[in-house]
Amino acid sequence: LAIDNSCIVIFGASGDLTQRMLMPALYKLFTQQKLPTAFVILGVSRSTYSDQAFRDKLINNIPASAVINKQLLADFCQRIFYQSIDTANVNDYAILKDRISKLNDTFKLENNALFYMATPPSLYSVIAQHLAAHHLNNEQKGWKRLVVEKPFGYDLDSAITLDKALYQHFQEQQIYRIDHYLGKETVQNMLVLRFANSIFEPLWNGKYIDYIEVTGAEALGVEKRGGYYDGSGAMRDMLQNHLLQVIAMVAMEPPSVINADSMRDEVVKVLQCLKPLSEHDLKHNLVLGQYTESKVRGEDLSAYRAEAGVPDDSRTETYVGLKMFINNWRWNGVPFYIRTGKRMPTRVTEVVIHFKKTPHPVFSAHAPENKLIIRIQPDEGIVLGFGLKQPGSGFESQEVAMDFHYSDLKKTELLTAYERLLLDLIKGDATLFSRSDAVRACWNFVQPILDYKKRSFSLYGYASGTWGPVEAEHLLIKDGHKWRSPC
Ligand code: BG6
Repeated sequence: LAIDNSCIVIFGASGDLTQRMLMPALYKLFTQQKLPTAFVILGVSRSTYSDQAFRDKLINNIPASAVINKQLLADFCQRIFYQSIDTANVNDYAILKDRISKLNDTFKLENNALFYMATPPSLYSVIAQHLAAHHLNNEQKGWKRLVVEKPFGYDLDSAITLDKALYQHFQEQQIYRIDHYLGKETVQNMLVLRFANSIFEPLWNGKYIDYIEVTGAEALGVEKRGGYYDGSGAMRDMLQNHLLQVIAMVAMEPPSVINADSMRDEVVKVLQCLKPLSEHDLKHNLVLGQYTESKVRGEDLSAYRAEAGVPDDSRTETYVGLKMFINNWRWNGVPFYIRTGKRMPTRVTEVVIHFKKTPHPVFSAHAPENKLIIRIQPDEGIVLGFGLKQPGSGFESQEVAMDFHYSDLKKTELLTAYERLLLDLIKGDATLFSRSDAVRACWNFVQPILDYKKRSFSLYGYASGTWGPVEAEHLLIKDGHKWRSPC
C-alpha cells in the first residue's frame, strides 16, 4: 500500500496521549524515513500556542536517546504546526479548514487528511459532525480518515450510538478504531506462529489443549488517571478491548489471506462465539478486586481509594479474573482463564497454552506439563516447555524449555505499537484496527458484567504488589489448576 502525502491532524494535541505516544512515534518513523515525502502534523486543541511554542513542548517529550541528530529533529519540527480552536464549536472548523487548505497547498499534500481524535470520548461524535459540516469528510479529492481512540463507547448501547453518530458523516472504511494491543509485534506474531507453521495448528484445539491462561498484569497503580479510571475499571480499561483482542488472535480460525476484510471477518466470528456469561458465571467464575495499601520492598503503596480523583468509597475494580469459554467446534469445553490488574508484582502480558497430558503415564505419574508460553511483553518471546529424560538410571522425566527471545534477533528493532499503527493509518491498512462488529461483540460479551456491577456484587481487596485476591486463585484451583507465576 502506498504511503501517500498527507496532513496528520491531531485533536487533543496538548494532551497526554499526543505528547507521550503519538509525537515520539511519528518522530521515530520520520528518522527511519517511513513517513511520506510530503506530510505535516497539525496539532489542534483549545490551548493557545504558536507553532514554535508547540514544537518546543513536543521536543521536551522526545527522549534524548531518540534524538539521532539535531538536524533531523529540526527538520521534523518544521513539519509541525498548531491551530487553536474550540473543538466543540462548529464555527471554528472554518478556521481549521482554512489552515489545512493552506498547508495542503504549501506542502502539496494531495488533499489527504488523517483526523486523529486523541480527545475525551465525549468529543468523538462532535468532531465528526463538525468536520462534516465543513466538508472535511469529503473524499472526492484525496482520502479522509477518522481515527478513534479507545474507549469506543461505555457499554453496548453507547457503542452502538457512537457508531450511528459517526456513520452519519463517515463510511466504515474511513473509520479506524485503535486498539494499541493489535499493534504489538508479539500479538501479530501469534498469527504467524499459528498459521505459518504446520506443527502447532493440528494441536490447536480442545482435543489437545487442556486450558489457556491470559494474563495482563501491571505493576503500576492508576497513577494520575484516577478520575478517568474510576468510571472505567479494569473491565472497560483492559478486558473489553485489549485482552479480548488477544483472545481473538489465539482462538480465531485461519483467514484465507491476510487483509483487512479476511482477518476481521475471522476475528468477529470468534468474538461472536464467546459463551454468554450466565448468572452462575457471574457468581462463580468472575472475581473482581481492588488494590489496598501495602509496603513492597520498603516502598509504601497507597490503596486505590486513596489515589487522587478516586472517591474513598469507590467500588471500582482494579482487578478482574474470569473463567470463560468459546462456543465453537475448536474450543468446546476448553476454559480460558483471564486476569488483569493494576499493582501486581510485575508488568507482564502473556498467553499460556496448556496441552493435555499423555493418555497413559508410561514413565511417571508426575510427567511434566507441555505448555507454550507466548510472552507479549516485556522480554517478548516464546517458550515451549516439555519433558525429557533425566540423565542416569531409570526413566524419570524433567521439564526443559525451548526458549526464543526477540532480543536475540539483534538487528531487529521492534516498532512500538503506535509506530506500527500510525504507519498503517497513513497507508490505509485497516487489518489491525477493530471493525464495528468486533467492538460490539466485545461489549455484548462484557455487558452482563457491567449490569452485574450495578447490582450488589462482591469486590475483594488485594494487597498492592500481589497477584490479586485469593478468591481468584480458587477459579483455577477448583479445576485442579494454578495460575502460572510469570516472575
Ligand atoms: C491502556 C489502559 O489502554 O493500556 C491503561 O488505559 C493500561 O490503563 C495500558 O495501563 C496498558 O498498555 P500496555 O501497552 O502498557 O500494556
